[in-house]
Amino acid sequence: MIISGKELSAKLKAEMAREVAAFPEKYGRVPHLVVILVGDNPASVSYVTGKAKASEAVGIRNTTIRRPSEITEQELLSLIKDLNEDDSVDGILVQLPLPEHISEARVIETIAREKDVDGFHPLNVAALWQKQPCILPCTPKGIIKMLKAAGVRISGKRAVVIGRSNIVGLPVAKLLLDENATVTIAHSRTEDLPSLTRQADILVVAIGRPRFVTSDMVSDGTVVIDVGVNRDPETGKLCGDVDYAAIEPKASVITPVPGGVGPMTICCLMENTIECFLERITRR
Ligand code: GUN
Repeated sequence: MIISGKELSAKLKAEMAREVAAFPEKYGRVPHLVVILVGDNPASVSYVTGKAKASEAVGIRNTTIRRPSEITEQELLSLIKDLNEDDSVDGILVQLPLPEHISEARVIETIAREKDVDGFHPLNVAALWQKQPCILPCTPKGIIKMLKAAGVRISGKRAVVIGRSNIVGLPVAKLLLDENATVTIAHSRTEDLPSLTRQADILVVAIGRPRFVTSDMVSDGTVVIDVGVNRDPETGKLCGDVDYAAIEPKASVITPVPGGVGPMTICCLMENTIECFLERITRR
């Protein structure tokens, strides 16, 4: 079974669009997401375009602010602070990665916590790990939604996550743990990775290497979630971290690249923007 993130996200976005359509009458306006793009990295440009398109589909107001890669850290922080103060803005997202002269940590901690639609702010991350209410990071949240929509039982299962980034590996491991999976976090230096991954009921791969997961690493019936976004070195096409052709016949459930986790990330960004909007507008 192939889980189409594209189809699931289209369905969820249509539901959100119906919800948002009632907001002008109920609250006087629609949610407003501001996306900041520094420089012109083609992958980042494409992600930011996807976020604007999804906003349009859901009926969320989107402002994309582009700045040249020469912008100073001070200028970027000052832009973020202005948006923090701007009452018409509900969500702020700074597309990563940033140029090397800008500290991503300082940028992330400058975004007001209540507008942090990515869920990257240290206070949001702390709240997640302390089981407090928080904004969930979009990719991990999208993965759990996909598993549930596919009817995958998570509770009691053995999950192996390959990758330990702040954006995906660590938070997805935490969310799986919260769903009562038994979770192992592996990475590029894990010894004898195949013998570990063959034990997995659920395998999440977020390592960023084309065809990193080969057929010998996956047992029959495994649920395989591929978070990779790579260029195939041979064809130049978009591909995941998993050797899809070899593993699809073995997996009980698998996510394709493109059209798997990616659309769900953007879908959850829309959901987080609505959450931030509702939290701010009903608090007043
Ligand atoms: N770059 C790659 N993924 C993401 C994401 O989820 N959020 C932001 N802000 N930048 C990214």
